[in-house]
Amino acid sequence: MVAVRTAELVFQTASAPDTQRVAAKLARAMARIWAETKPTPRLVVGLVGELGAGKTTFVQGFISALRNGGQVRVTSPTFALVHQYPTSPPVHHFDLYRLSGADALDEIGFHGDAFADGITLVEWIRQIPDAIPDSWIEIEICLAPMPTGARQLRLRAHGEPATAVLECMG
Ligand SMILES: Nc1ncnc2c1ncn2[C@@H]1O[C@H](COP(=O)(O)OP(=O)(O)OP(=O)(O)O)[C@@H](O)[C@H]1O
Ligand SMILES: [Mg+2]
Repeated sequence: MVAVRTAELVFQTASAPDTQRVAAKLARAMARIWAETKPTPRLVVGLVGELGAGKTTFVQGFISALRNGGQVRVTSPTFALVHQYPTSPPVHHFDLYRLSGADALDEIGFHGDAFADGITLVEWIRQIPDAIPDSWIEIEICLAPMPTGARQLRLRAHGEPATAVLECMG
């Protein structure tokens, strides 16, 4: 029998800073796993949730918790599709809302060496169902049925090493 490990964590946050604190906790766990794995891997986080759910807000909290991330200004890569941050581990932040197809994904180098090491954060990851890796962490942010200003964050690990990351966080 093969035992399949799964991990899921659910948080309810009352404000944007509260969501950013959850993101910071995930960032610290991911930085630890990244540094302990040789060669250093590409770890992927996909953010799922409607317009205005808090995906970019989550990324802001995530970056602020990484080494060299304190001074980084995080904005949505709505038109550029990807921003890179000089943190350790390096982070590539995609927003695929406006992605116009798989070819465009190749053009921005999603599969290329430039993004092979570090952490890849992807807003609107459901736009690229065929390009989602075997192991990734899904962050689903729900507005409803929460009261105004509150969110439910569901963190789900798919495969290894994503499961190890969530276990390290819990
Ligand atoms: N609990 C909360 N968690 C996250 N954001 C919150 C919360 N409460 C209120 N907000 C506000 O909701 C807004 C979320 O905007 P944000 O740009 O992060 O969403 P998004 O999911 O990235 O949207 P888009 O789909 O346009 O990229 C921000 O103005 C933020 O301050
Ligand atoms: Mg956004």
